Amino acid sequence: MTDYISEYKKKTKGSVKLFDKSLKFHVNGVSHNIRFFEPYPFVVKSSSGKNLVDVDNNKYTDYWMGHWSLILGHGPKPVKDAVKKQIEKSWMYGTVNEQTIKLSELISKAVPVAEKIRYVTSGTEATMYAVRLARSVTGKNIIAKIDGGWHGYTSDLLKSVNWPFTESESTGVVNEEKIVSIPFNDFEKSLEILKKVSNDLAGIIIEPVLGGGGCIPANADYLKGIQEFCKKNNSLFILDEIVTGFRFRFGCLYPTMNLDPDIVTLGKIVGGGMPIGVMCGKKEIMEYSNTKGKKKTERSYIGGGTFSANPMSMTSGFATLTELKSGKTIYSKINSLGDFVRKEITKVFDGKVIVTGKGSLFMTHFVKDGVTEVINSSQAAKCDTSLLNKYHFKMIAHDGIFFLPGKLGAISNAHTKEDIKKMINATENFQE
Ligand SMILES: Cc1ncc(COP(=O)(O)O)c(C=O)c1O
Repeated sequence: MTDYISEYKKKTKGSVKLFDKSLKFHVNGVSHNIRFFEPYPFVVKSSSGKNLVDVDNNKYTDYWMGHWSLILGHGPKPVKDAVKKQIEKSWMYGTVNEQTIKLSELISKAVPVAEKIRYVTSGTEATMYAVRLARSVTGKNIIAKIDGGWHGYTSDLLKSVNWPFTESESTGVVNEEKIVSIPFNDFEKSLEILKKVSNDLAGIIIEPVLGGGGCIPANADYLKGIQEFCKKNNSLFILDEIVTGFRFRFGCLYPTMNLDPDIVTLGKIVGGGMPIGVMCGKKEIMEYSNTKGKKKTERSYIGGGTFSANPMSMTSGFATLTELKSGKTIYSKINSLGDFVRKEITKVFDGKVIVTGKGSLFMTHFVKDGVTEVINSSQAAKCDTSLLNKYHFKMIAHDGIFFLPGKLGAISNAHTKEDIKKMINATENFQE
């Protein structure tokens, strides 16, 4: 490890200087907690295709891909062209605009639940409103989430995010007793917990593939069971597809599991790398947010904000989805590269790892403490996360390959099989 740190320090002399400056202005030098890694993160000056370039001109093949939002890679031409054209017209209207309607037409055709759509500027905001809407619609208070589920920093969902899922994640958050958490992929135990709060349960929010919680796909029967419980209990079933929406196919993941959620949240890919969050829902549910003809005691007062549905995000989202829709081979290509990478990393580590994921998302878990499967966040947390950090850091320092240490990797359309083979090669050379 020490060698890799010296190697990293030698090649990132410009970054360290700039990061020292960043520390003066920003807590821990960053504007998103997860962007910090030891000894200091390199500072990026540009990106293109599959690559990030830092201020010392080091090039990294990127598997972080803008928090997994850049499915077409950095700055893909059709998106860049559309954004340039829009910027000529202007970048902020603060009014209803054509660009929004175009994006909504695409989303509503691909996502059956999107009978009505509301745009915001982050996934955090989208899940915050989804929770509020569920409470308004049902007149109940409690929201259930998954142990290890991540829905952004929304106060209402900032519980049971990190192992051991029992301590509060933060001071300054109130009414945490209104959030309960259930174990992923364990229907019996989840049901036990849900039954205890059923009278006051407004909704359940779940990611169909746990992202931050370990890149773990949900079992379809588990989600079906949870959905059925919600329907019987008059609680809303909310799927957070901010990571999974348009990641594996043109649309959401839920139709492939025959699910029928009440609300779906989207973000990341549908903004094509510009700020976005989206709430999609059935008409009768979304209408609770209609301020026309509804008393304060009846409505759910949900946003936007200044920058919601801004023409830049709408344009880059529309161009990205258009490209995904017309590029018939994109999904089959990146999904099969994902299958390849899972198989090869598993082979290289020969019994020491479990590689989880789906399609173009993957994560390596170094097993320890008798873990034999990773189907929930507890098992993921019991794996050797410091070894995963070492493995990722080695690739940053030595191989010009970037994973945000400890996080899942995302393959974009800009990656090739050659890139994946290089990463496998770098994996073979990793020594603990
Ligand atoms: C599943 C999920 N929901 C919500 C969010 C929050 O989105 P944002 O970071 O845009 O606020 C994230 C972010 O990674 C996420 O993974």
